[in-house]
Amino acid sequence: MFDLIVIGAGPGGYSAAIRAAQLGKKVACIEKRPGKALGGTCLNVGCIPSKALLDSSELYETTLHKMEKHGIKIGSVALDVAQMLKRKDDVVKTLTTGIAGLFKKNKVTPVYGAAKLTSPTTVQVTADDGSTSTLEAGHILLATGSESTELPFLKFDGQRIVSSTEALTFPEVPKHLIVIGAGVIGLELGSVWKRLGAQVTVVEFLPRTLPTVDGEVATTMQKLLTKQGMTFHLGTKVTGSQPAADPANIVITATGPDGQEVHFEGDRVLVAVGRRPYIAGLGLDEVGVAHDPKSRRVTVDRHYRTSIPTISAIGDLTDGPMLAHKASEEGIIFAEQFAGMQPHLNYDAIPAVVYTWPEVASVGLTTEQLKEQGTPFKTGKFPFLASGRARAMDEIDGFVKVLTHADTDRLLGIHIVGPRASELIAECVTAMEYHGTAEDIARCTHAHPTLSEGVGEAARAAWAGQSVNF
Ligand code: FAD
Ligand code: NAI
Repeated sequence: MFDLIVIGAGPGGYSAAIRAAQLGKKVACIEKRPGKALGGTCLNVGCIPSKALLDSSELYETTLHKMEKHGIKIGSVALDVAQMLKRKDDVVKTLTTGIAGLFKKNKVTPVYGAAKLTSPTTVQVTADDGSTSTLEAGHILLATGSESTELPFLKFDGQRIVSSTEALTFPEVPKHLIVIGAGVIGLELGSVWKRLGAQVTVVEFLPRTLPTVDGEVATTMQKLLTKQGMTFHLGTKVTGSQPAADPANIVITATGPDGQEVHFEGDRVLVAVGRRPYIAGLGLDEVGVAHDPKSRRVTVDRHYRTSIPTISAIGDLTDGPMLAHKASEEGIIFAEQFAGMQPHLNYDAIPAVVYTWPEVASVGLTTEQLKEQGTPFKTGKFPFLASGRARAMDEIDGFVKVLTHADTDRLLGIHIVGPRASELIAECVTAMEYHGTAEDIARCTHAHPTLSEGVGEAARAAWAGQSVNF
């Protein structure tokens, strides 16, 4: 008998299991991924392998195109895709094994197999060899994450028409990669294969890219990716596929913005149109755990309780952004609440990053959201072309945009497109978490010369009406 059974060992589940065990609870964590791999989507087929390939491909791009300007001459440069994939797999292996080590250190019992709820306090586990066992606990936490959404008229075949999982393992660079969906996965994995030499065409249903990102930032990013060689077809609705004359290719059919039929022929198609909660075989209906039939999201209150008092849920399975740090923070908060503590998570200060080059990072509300709400706001901007450090790096694309309340100067949103935006956003999150103002950021001394000065300058522009260095 356990105090807590966690189903799913992704960032949400493993963080919850470890924190609950640290607080004295007897915890089991069940994971069904083959090969007893812990870490969920994030470590195995998500954040980590995609960033490993983004980093490798960025080095390749830098070596090919940026070194000479810095006065570094390199002879012939060759690509070894097999080695690049092996390095990525090694990174994944190190980190997933690390979770097993953390379980051991914190006395979490790992259980390998597919879990199914059989009552509000019991779970049946089916192991790889088909054998079953039953576990019982006072409480059960569901953290089964999400899976790629399939288009009904463009089913994944694992070869030509693929999800992000297969796009992380292409054995050679595609000649022409067609990406359906200009969201985070489309732009990140599109960037990887573009840098490595593929022609990349992105087909997006909406009239814009990155729908959740500040509009001006998304437009800037799209222009920069276009300059890097990606092609975008916005307002274009994919309708299906048909065989191509060349058997190595496939033809995607779509309806363009003016209603005209358009075709795209390529050797690989990455469908990246969103993810949806993974609930297959979990037994939600049998035990009566309420979930939205359309979105599949499990319904929870602000303490992560489902409709069954002894069952809770967190992470991609529940409402909110499908992000690893959102899932892990919820896991920790859940565990601490379960142990009698009273922490809470500020959903207004969860950062989001797109790991293209340059990167996109944001926290808080966008310009469009503020306009829609009718909130009076001020905007302060600072372009990286005016940053000494960005000049020294020769990375001058992009800007920092700070949005504040027009009457109180309180920070409402910060949006960055530029070099190392993923790191710059941390200061902005801290400031927002402390309910800071633009003046608070502007008056912090930022080391010179750093990219972070751009955040200080944009904050100054929002607060004082102008920055000093632009
Ligand atoms: P998951 O990580 O999905 O883990 C759930 C686990 O539960 C899985 O291992 C699954 O096998 C297991 N499971 C499911 N059902 C059962 C069952 N019945 N029995 C036992 N086990 C079960 N987010 C970021 O914040 N930053 C990024 O850079 C980023 N990059 C991404 C790149 C890609 C290509 C993808 C696909 C996603 C990326 N994400 C990123 C999103 C991130 O991976 C998810 O938000 C995060 O993994 C969600 O964590 P989770 O714990 O809710 O679920
Ligand atoms: P997404 O929601 O980011 O983007 C999907 C895009 O596909 C949208 O622009 C949407 O308008 C478009 N689309 C939907 N249906 C379409 C259709 N029929 N034809 C053409 N376009 C269509 O989803 P994505 O990129 O699949 O990523 C899934 C989730 O994974 C995201 O919600 C994100 O939170 C997470 N993720 C996070 C990363 C990060 O934090 N850096 C990296 C990768 C994934």
